[in-house]
Amino acid sequence: SNKLNIAVIAGDGIGKEVVPEGLRVLEAAAKRYDLSFDFKEHDFASCDYYGRTGEMLPEDWKTRLEGSDAIFFGAVGWPDVVPDHVSLWGSLLKFRREYDQYVNLRPVRLMPGVPSPLANRAPGDIDFYVVRENTEGEYSSIGGKMYEGTDREIVVQETVISRHGTDRILKFAFELAQSRPAKHLTSATKSNGISITMPYWDERVEEMAKNYGDVKVDKYHIDILTAQFVLNPDWFDVVVGSNLFGDILSDLGPACTGTIGVAPSGNIDPTGRFPSLFEPVHGSAPDIAGKGIANPVGQIWAGAMMLEHLGHKEAADGIVQAIETVLSEQKLRTGDLGGPLGTVDCGKAIADALS
Ligand code: NAD
Ligand code: IPM
Ligand code: MN
Repeated sequence: SNKLNIAVIAGDGIGKEVVPEGLRVLEAAAKRYDLSFDFKEHDFASCDYYGRTGEMLPEDWKTRLEGSDAIFFGAVGWPDVVPDHVSLWGSLLKFRREYDQYVNLRPVRLMPGVPSPLANRAPGDIDFYVVRENTEGEYSSIGGKMYEGTDREIVVQETVISRHGTDRILKFAFELAQSRPAKHLTSATKSNGISITMPYWDERVEEMAKNYGDVKVDKYHIDILTAQFVLNPDWFDVVVGSNLFGDILSDLGPACTGTIGVAPSGNIDPTGRFPSLFEPVHGSAPDIAGKGIANPVGQIWAGAMMLEHLGHKEAADGIVQAIETVLSEQKLRTGDLGGPLGTVDCGKAIADALS
């Protein structure tokens, strides 16, 4: 439908600065593409909320988010006040799991005119997707501490790789690869060292590949894969990895395109049973929070991903186009990309480019 109910959660730090710019650009897109938004802002899933209530989320958070077509999310974390594992497991990671957003889709693209920190790289050279498993793997709650306080103290956290969880993320990644001109899928592994879970992951990749004869498949151990991201980013089209490997690759990839500040992320439940969540890849950036200098593009591009997910591809493409137009001009960029603008003026420039 053309009327979209969006839950808005800004969270902490620069989340509170970039989300308003994301909303500004979504409103501009609504005007141009005849959409209408009902934005419902929530103050939970933030360390401020935790300070007031002792919890990251209210007990009835699911009821409060009911009827949302999607969640537009900023960033969570203020480690000086709340330990990161408490704030993140109490909010973002809970959404990902309880809403079964098993795909974390993270595009990596060098935009025209934006200088890459890698020498001699042009836009077409860096244009791929990281497809990250988002509900299991190394991010597991199975484990614990033993012999606490003694010199035999041990901590264990089990990696969980299920057949169901692996096959569904691989299927998504293969289908994405199949839809792209290069039809190329790279699997991140570490089956030389992590000798039970990772050989199993490789096995499932080989099995799934049988259904996609037209997709070229290769695999790299995660250590050399990070090196190849820097040395040969043009080799990649769709890169699929476990929760942790995907996390690492999706900061490294965008860094190769100039800044992590432009990178968006879709936490998607492809079955549509639950609302999907769209956010920038970056965090709350306490080091620059409150200064008005954060790059709003990751948040704005996340808005475009949200519109595409909700079936409004033309509006989504319009936003990406506006981002490209603005980023191609040095004088319209934020400081992380060598430009003079602050968060608000950069957001306004993108909204203007849409109208
Ligand atoms: P971070 O992404 O917040 O920041 C890393 C570096 O990148 C910092 O120097 C920061 O200033 C810079 N940066 C990040 N976003 C930027 C932007 N839009 N424009 C310009 N520069 C930007 O990562 P961190 O420092 O590891 O984590 C800070 C907090 O955020 C922690 O609490 C962490 O757990 C949390 N975090 C949350 C999310 C999320 O909500 N999805 C993601 C990552 C980290
Ligand atoms: C991300 C973040 C989160 C993750 C943290 C904040 C738990 O780094 O979304 O990439 O590791 O998934
Ligand atoms: Mn991350």
